[in-house]
Amino acid sequence: MAALLKVQKMNLSRNDIIRLLDDEERQNDLFKKADETRRKYVGDEVHLRGLIEFSNICRNNCLYCGIRKGNKNAVRYRMTPEELIETARRAAGMGFKTIVMQSGEDMYYTSERMCRIIEEIKKFDVAVTLSIGERSYQEYKAFREAGADRYLMRIETTDKDLYHKLDPNMSWQNRYECLLMIKELGYELGSGIMVGLPEQTLDSIAGDLLFLRDIGVDMAGIGPFIPHPDTPLAQAKGGALYLALRTMAIMRLLLPDINIPATTAMESLHPRGRIMALRCGANVVMPNVTEGEYRKFYELYPGKICVNDTPVHCRSCIGLKIMSIGRKIGTGYGSHKKQFRRENA
Ligand code: 5AD
Ligand code: FES
Repeated sequence: MAALLKVQKMNLSRNDIIRLLDDEERQNDLFKKADETRRKYVGDEVHLRGLIEFSNICRNNCLYCGIRKGNKNAVRYRMTPEELIETARRAAGMGFKTIVMQSGEDMYYTSERMCRIIEEIKKFDVAVTLSIGERSYQEYKAFREAGADRYLMRIETTDKDLYHKLDPNMSWQNRYECLLMIKELGYELGSGIMVGLPEQTLDSIAGDLLFLRDIGVDMAGIGPFIPHPDTPLAQAKGGALYLALRTMAIMRLLLPDINIPATTAMESLHPRGRIMALRCGANVVMPNVTEGEYRKFYELYPGKICVNDTPVHCRSCIGLKIMSIGRKIGTGYGSHKKQFRRENA
């Protein structure tokens, strides 16, 4: 392990990555190395993003997801554009410098509606991140021109067979092309994967990490898969917290200066999940700023944290946790600052 970790970062091979993913016994060495790398390249600031989950209506039917179209038990909601803008205004008032707008693939939110919302929210002096799924080039272009700064869309897995099993009627190729368009349009690109999916192998996770490195993501979100009782994967295993942490730590070694969130799904599996993640590579947290009942209805997986809390409570809770481990809350927009040039890029 020690020798492996001395290898020039960018040169970790697929086999090296598989070995690191598999080495539970010596994972603390990996975590330490990822923590040092995080500190060296992006420092001690933790950037907070205010996450608004504005609609759980979705046209897709992903087998793992609690808000899949086929889940008749899901209570559906959609904020009005005015509610969404108001939620963002309050989050900006609380000091958030980035607003992330996330939803299912809800086509009520047309290009025109989204653009107007983006323009309004940009007036609050925040960076705007969209996480609303697959759209056309024209739409991505319009959102960008309206002021959107970043776009977040996980590739979920690069194992195409697995992807097509889990996301019926969707096309891996189309999702990949969306990521390329987003990048070409000058957004900061966030992508990522789930770890511990049924039939997912370590080899496939290694492939995912290399994929994220090679498309040059500015942000990589890595979360454990958690089976939802109202989905076809209710009986699946899931819950691979430590494997997800190892995956995240390796991501930090492969792309030392990117933004990596401590994901909410990690905390849903362990009460200190986000703090653990911040200590092995992560430098971003996305507290929920959605108000009221909506929080619990945006249930991608069970056991989601903070469903009965308020935005103000979560902001102070996470702030205290971050400070308790000697880290600082970022004061700027927390954009990806490229500091590391890949030898072979
Ligand atoms: N467990 C963990 N993460 C999930 N997501 C969706 N369903 C689940 C689940 N059951 C993740 C997907 C998606 C992100 C918004 O949430 O990776 O891209
Ligand atoms: Fe929501 Fe701690 S972040 S209660």
